[in-house]
Amino acid sequence: MLIQLTYASRISRTLVPEDLKSILAASQRNNQRVGVTGALCLSSGIFLQQLEGDRTAVNSLYHRILLDPRHRDPAILDFSEIAARKFTQWSMGSLSALEANRTIYLKYSRSASFDPYGMSPATLRAFFDEIMTNGTWLN
Ligand SMILES: Cc1cc2nc3c(=O)[nH]c(=O)nc-3n(C[C@H](O)[C@H](O)[C@H](O)COP(=O)(O)O)c2cc1C
Repeated sequence: MLIQLTYASRISRTLVPEDLKSILAASQRNNQRVGVTGALCLSSGIFLQQLEGDRTAVNSLYHRILLDPRHRDPAILDFSEIAARKFTQWSMGSLSALEANRTIYLKYSRSASFDPYGMSPATLRAFFDEIMTNGTWLN
């Protein structure tokens, strides 16, 4: 059964570029093996990640990610069955930070700062649809 899990978390300390690089490297190394695709965004100190794949595989990956000390305050925002994957090109794509994507972040935010914790599942899905087509990606 194909599902998507979307969660938010806060960075636990000042993130250095090497941290993000190592997270992406691990994702690309591991996700393909377990058939999980998705996207990772970081803005205003908040991670927003969507994982898609087999329910059991996504669950176990999510529980592994929860153990990572580089983030805290995790919250599942959406967990639902999907008919098809959205992020077929990426084992884990990463949206580039700030300027290039600022208008997209703003479009789906209630306030001037990006706050995924307050976004509904419908808004989150619209956000991920939009970044898939109009987002500027790191890789
Ligand atoms: C916000 C965030 C998202 C992450 N996403 C993934 C992921 O999609 N896949 C993954 O394997 N590791 C991810 N990680 C890293 C894992 O927590 C862990 O460090 C990594 O999987 C260890 O990989 P290794 O055992 O191959 O060294 C993420 C970490 C953070 C903080």
